[in-house]
Amino acid sequence: MARMAPYDEIADWYEDEFLAKQRAHAAGNDFADEIGLDRSLHDLLGTGTGTCLEIGCGTGVYADRVRKLGWAPIGIDISSGMLRRALARLPVVQADVAQLPFADGSLAAVIAMMAHTDMPNYPSALQEVRRVLRPGGVFVHVGVHPCFCGGFADRSNVDAVVIRPGYLDGHWTTNSWTTQGLRDKVGAHHLPLPALLNAFVDAGLSLQEFTEGGATCPVTLAVKALKSIRHEP
Ligand SMILES: C[S@@+](CC[C@H](N)C(=O)[O-])C[C@H]1O[C@@H](n2cnc3c(N)ncnc32)[C@H](O)[C@@H]1O
Repeated sequence: MARMAPYDEIADWYEDEFLAKQRAHAAGNDFADEIGLDRSLHDLLGTGTGTCLEIGCGTGVYADRVRKLGWAPIGIDISSGMLRRALARLPVVQADVAQLPFADGSLAAVIAMMAHTDMPNYPSALQEVRRVLRPGGVFVHVGVHPCFCGGFADRSNVDAVVIRPGYLDGHWTTNSWTTQGLRDKVGAHHLPLPALLNAFVDAGLSLQEFTEGGATCPVTLAVKALKSIRHEP
Protein backbone atom coordinates (compact mmCIF):
# COMPACT_ATOMS: atom_id res chain seq x y z
CA MET A 1 0.00 0.00 0.00
CA ALA A 2 1.32 3.49 -0.88
CA ARG A 3 2.56 5.49 2.13
CA MET A 4 0.34 8.41 3.19
CA ALA A 5 1.91 11.84 2.89
CA PRO A 6 1.29 14.24 5.81
CA TYR A 7 -1.09 16.41 3.77
CA ASP A 8 -3.23 13.52 2.45
CA GLU A 9 -5.46 13.53 5.50
CA ILE A 10 -5.95 17.29 5.65
CA ALA A 11 -6.27 18.12 1.94
CA ASP A 12 -9.99 18.92 2.13
CA TRP A 13 -9.55 20.99 5.30
CA TYR A 14 -6.62 22.83 3.63
CA GLU A 15 -8.64 23.74 0.55
CA ASP A 16 -12.11 24.29 2.05
CA GLU A 17 -11.21 25.94 5.36
CA PHE A 18 -7.59 27.07 5.60
CA LEU A 19 -7.23 28.56 2.10
CA ALA A 20 -10.84 29.74 2.01
CA LYS A 21 -10.24 31.77 5.19
CA GLN A 22 -6.92 33.14 3.94
CA ARG A 23 -8.50 34.26 0.69
CA ALA A 24 -11.86 35.38 2.06
CA HIS A 25 -11.24 39.05 1.39
CA ALA A 26 -10.29 38.40 -2.25
CA ALA A 27 -13.58 39.53 -3.81
CA GLY A 28 -12.89 42.67 -5.82
CA ASN A 29 -9.15 42.66 -5.00
CA ASP A 30 -6.43 41.98 -7.54
CA PHE A 31 -4.51 39.98 -4.97
CA ALA A 32 -6.18 37.13 -3.22
CA ASP A 33 -4.74 36.88 0.30
CA GLU A 34 -4.07 39.27 3.14
CA ILE A 35 -0.53 38.13 3.93
CA GLY A 36 0.88 39.11 0.56
CA LEU A 37 1.56 35.69 -0.97
CA ASP A 38 -0.11 36.42 -4.28
CA ARG A 39 1.40 39.91 -4.41
CA SER A 40 4.95 38.60 -3.74
CA LEU A 41 4.56 35.96 -6.44
CA HIS A 42 3.29 38.56 -8.91
CA ASP A 43 6.06 41.04 -8.16
CA LEU A 44 8.98 38.62 -8.09
CA LEU A 45 8.02 36.19 -10.86
CA GLY A 46 6.92 38.90 -13.28
CA THR A 47 5.71 38.25 -16.78
CA GLY A 48 7.30 35.55 -18.90
CA THR A 49 6.71 32.58 -21.14
CA GLY A 50 7.49 28.88 -20.96
CA THR A 51 6.82 26.28 -18.28
CA CYS A 52 6.68 27.36 -14.65
CA LEU A 53 6.88 24.45 -12.20
CA GLU A 54 5.48 24.80 -8.69
CA ILE A 55 7.22 22.46 -6.23
CA GLY A 56 4.86 21.44 -3.42
CA CYS A 57 1.93 22.85 -5.40
CA GLY A 58 -0.67 21.48 -2.99
CA THR A 59 -4.15 22.18 -4.34
CA GLY A 60 -2.74 24.43 -7.09
CA VAL A 61 -4.16 27.68 -5.89
CA TYR A 62 -1.43 29.81 -7.57
CA ALA A 63 -1.93 28.40 -11.07
CA ASP A 64 -4.18 31.29 -12.10
CA ARG A 65 -1.67 33.93 -11.04
CA VAL A 66 1.11 32.13 -12.94
CA ARG A 67 -1.09 31.95 -16.04
CA LYS A 68 -2.04 35.63 -15.79
CA LEU A 69 1.68 36.44 -15.91
CA GLY A 70 2.02 34.54 -19.19
CA TRP A 71 3.66 31.32 -17.94
CA ALA A 72 2.35 27.77 -18.39
CA PRO A 73 1.91 26.31 -14.88
CA ILE A 74 2.63 22.72 -13.92
CA GLY A 75 2.85 21.31 -10.40
CA ILE A 76 4.44 18.51 -8.44
CA ASP A 77 3.52 17.41 -4.94
CA ILE A 78 4.15 14.34 -2.80
CA SER A 79 0.54 14.25 -1.55
CA SER A 80 -2.03 12.52 -3.74
CA GLY A 81 -4.78 14.05 -1.58
CA MET A 82 -3.61 17.58 -2.37
CA LEU A 83 -3.12 16.78 -6.06
CA ARG A 84 -6.68 15.46 -6.30
CA ARG A 85 -7.86 18.99 -5.47
CA ALA A 86 -5.25 20.55 -7.81
CA LEU A 87 -6.26 18.62 -10.94
CA ALA A 88 -8.90 21.14 -11.98
CA ARG A 89 -6.37 23.97 -11.81
CA LEU A 90 -3.19 22.77 -13.54
CA PRO A 91 -1.36 19.72 -14.92
CA VAL A 92 0.27 17.87 -12.01
CA VAL A 93 2.64 14.99 -11.31
CA GLN A 94 3.00 13.17 -7.99
CA ALA A 95 6.68 13.36 -7.11
CA ASP A 96 9.13 14.06 -4.32
CA VAL A 97 11.01 17.33 -4.67
CA ALA A 98 14.17 15.37 -3.88
CA GLN A 99 13.93 13.80 -7.36
CA LEU A 100 12.14 16.07 -9.79
CA PRO A 101 10.90 14.20 -12.89
CA PHE A 102 12.33 16.78 -15.31
CA ALA A 103 15.47 16.85 -17.43
CA ASP A 104 18.45 19.04 -16.58
CA GLY A 105 18.04 22.63 -17.75
CA SER A 106 14.52 22.05 -19.09
CA LEU A 107 12.39 24.64 -17.25
CA ALA A 108 12.10 28.42 -17.61
CA ALA A 109 10.82 29.03 -14.08
CA VAL A 110 10.20 27.30 -10.76
CA ILE A 111 8.23 28.56 -7.76
CA ALA A 112 7.84 27.34 -4.18
CA MET A 113 4.81 28.77 -2.35
CA MET A 114 4.70 28.26 1.43
CA ALA A 115 6.33 24.88 0.98
CA HIS A 116 9.90 25.05 2.32
CA THR A 117 8.88 24.39 5.94
CA ASP A 118 7.19 21.19 4.77
CA MET A 119 10.25 19.81 3.00
CA PRO A 120 12.62 17.82 5.23
CA ASN A 121 15.72 18.89 3.27
CA TYR A 122 15.08 22.23 1.56
CA PRO A 123 18.78 22.82 0.76
CA SER A 124 18.83 19.66 -1.38
CA ALA A 125 15.46 20.64 -2.92
CA LEU A 126 17.15 23.85 -4.07
CA GLN A 127 19.89 21.79 -5.73
CA GLU A 128 17.15 19.99 -7.65
CA VAL A 129 15.54 23.31 -8.58
CA ARG A 130 18.86 24.50 -9.98
CA ARG A 131 19.33 21.26 -11.90
CA VAL A 132 16.00 21.50 -13.73
CA LEU A 133 16.16 25.25 -14.43
CA ARG A 134 17.63 26.38 -17.70
CA PRO A 135 20.60 28.77 -17.42
CA GLY A 136 19.27 32.18 -16.42
CA GLY A 137 15.96 30.59 -15.37
CA VAL A 138 14.06 32.19 -12.49
CA PHE A 139 13.21 30.71 -9.10
CA VAL A 140 10.74 32.40 -6.74
CA HIS A 141 10.45 31.24 -3.15
CA VAL A 142 7.61 32.60 -1.01
CA GLY A 143 7.73 31.11 2.47
CA VAL A 144 6.98 31.44 6.14
CA HIS A 145 9.21 34.23 7.47
CA PRO A 146 12.03 32.44 9.29
CA CYS A 147 12.47 35.25 11.84
CA PHE A 148 8.93 36.18 12.83
CA CYS A 149 6.85 33.07 12.21
CA GLY A 150 7.18 29.54 13.60
CA GLY A 151 6.84 27.56 16.79
CA PHE A 152 9.12 30.03 18.58
CA ALA A 153 7.04 33.09 17.59
CA ASP A 154 3.93 33.76 19.62
CA ARG A 155 1.69 35.72 17.24
CA SER A 156 -1.42 35.74 19.42
CA ASN A 157 -1.05 39.54 19.44
CA VAL A 158 0.17 40.51 15.96
CA ASP A 159 1.10 43.97 17.21
CA ALA A 160 3.44 42.52 19.83
CA VAL A 161 4.90 39.27 18.50
CA VAL A 162 6.94 37.47 21.18
CA ILE A 163 10.06 35.59 20.00
CA ARG A 164 10.73 32.71 22.37
CA PRO A 165 13.74 30.32 22.41
CA GLY A 166 13.90 28.04 19.36
CA TYR A 167 14.82 30.34 16.46
CA LEU A 168 18.50 29.43 16.45
CA ASP A 169 18.25 25.65 16.60
CA GLY A 170 16.85 24.69 13.18
CA HIS A 171 14.58 21.78 13.92
CA TRP A 172 11.28 20.03 13.19
CA THR A 173 8.42 20.91 15.47
CA THR A 174 4.66 20.80 15.79
CA ASN A 175 4.82 23.69 18.28
CA SER A 176 2.54 26.46 17.18
CA TRP A 177 1.10 29.62 18.67
CA THR A 178 -2.36 28.43 17.60
CA THR A 179 -4.25 25.16 17.71
CA GLN A 180 -6.40 26.26 14.75
CA GLY A 181 -3.65 26.43 12.14
CA LEU A 182 -1.57 24.21 9.92
CA ARG A 183 1.59 23.63 11.91
CA ASP A 184 0.03 21.85 14.85
CA LYS A 185 -1.37 19.41 12.28
CA VAL A 186 1.63 18.71 10.02
CA GLY A 187 4.59 20.25 11.87
CA ALA A 188 7.33 22.37 10.32
CA HIS A 189 11.03 22.23 9.44
CA HIS A 190 12.59 25.48 10.59
CA LEU A 191 15.70 27.00 9.00
CA PRO A 192 17.12 30.18 10.57
CA LEU A 193 17.57 33.05 8.09
CA PRO A 194 21.29 32.51 7.31
CA ALA A 195 20.76 28.77 6.74
CA LEU A 196 17.88 29.52 4.37
CA LEU A 197 19.76 32.14 2.35
CA ASN A 198 23.01 30.14 2.33
CA ALA A 199 21.08 27.22 0.84
CA PHE A 200 20.30 29.36 -2.23
CA VAL A 201 23.93 30.42 -2.56
CA ASP A 202 25.24 26.86 -2.06
CA ALA A 203 22.84 25.60 -4.75
CA GLY A 204 24.20 28.10 -7.27
CA LEU A 205 21.11 30.28 -7.27
CA SER A 206 21.98 33.93 -7.57
CA LEU A 207 19.97 36.15 -5.21
CA GLN A 208 18.16 39.00 -6.98
CA GLU A 209 15.36 40.51 -4.92
CA PHE A 210 13.42 40.11 -1.65
CA THR A 211 9.99 41.06 -0.31
CA GLU A 212 8.13 40.58 2.97
CA GLY A 213 4.38 40.15 3.38
CA GLY A 214 1.92 40.60 6.22
CA ALA A 215 1.52 43.41 8.73
CA THR A 216 2.36 44.65 11.25
CA CYS A 217 5.12 42.09 11.77
CA PRO A 218 5.86 40.18 8.55
CA VAL A 219 4.55 36.63 8.13
CA THR A 220 6.34 35.81 4.88
CA LEU A 221 9.72 36.31 3.24
CA ALA A 222 10.01 36.01 -0.54
CA VAL A 223 13.17 35.58 -2.58
CA LYS A 224 13.81 35.84 -6.31
CA ALA A 225 16.90 34.03 -7.58
CA LEU A 226 18.31 33.13 -10.97
CA LYS A 227 20.20 30.04 -12.04
CA SER A 228 23.75 31.31 -12.43
CA ILE A 229 25.27 30.53 -15.78
CA ARG A 230 28.47 29.31 -14.06
CA HIS A 231 28.56 27.49 -10.73
CA GLU A 232 31.38 25.55 -9.10
CA PRO A 233 29.70 23.13 -6.62
C1 LIG B 1 1.69 24.34 2.99
S1 LIG B 1 1.45 23.31 1.60
C2 LIG B 1 1.53 24.54 0.30
C3 LIG B 1 0.74 24.17 -0.92
C4 LIG B 1 0.65 25.25 -1.98
N1 LIG B 1 1.95 25.60 -2.48
C5 LIG B 1 -0.06 26.46 -1.41
O1 LIG B 1 0.62 27.48 -1.16
O2 LIG B 1 -1.26 26.39 -1.18
C6 LIG B 1 2.99 22.45 1.36
C7 LIG B 1 2.95 21.37 0.31
O3 LIG B 1 4.26 20.82 0.15
C8 LIG B 1 4.09 19.45 -0.14
N2 LIG B 1 5.34 18.69 0.12
C9 LIG B 1 5.91 18.44 1.33
N3 LIG B 1 7.02 17.70 1.17
C10 LIG B 1 7.17 17.49 -0.15
C11 LIG B 1 8.14 16.79 -0.93
N4 LIG B 1 9.19 16.17 -0.34
N5 LIG B 1 8.00 16.76 -2.28
C12 LIG B 1 6.94 17.39 -2.86
N6 LIG B 1 5.99 18.06 -2.17
C13 LIG B 1 6.10 18.12 -0.84
C14 LIG B 1 2.95 19.03 0.76
O4 LIG B 1 2.35 17.80 0.37
C15 LIG B 1 2.02 20.23 0.64
O5 LIG B 1 1.07 20.07 -0.38
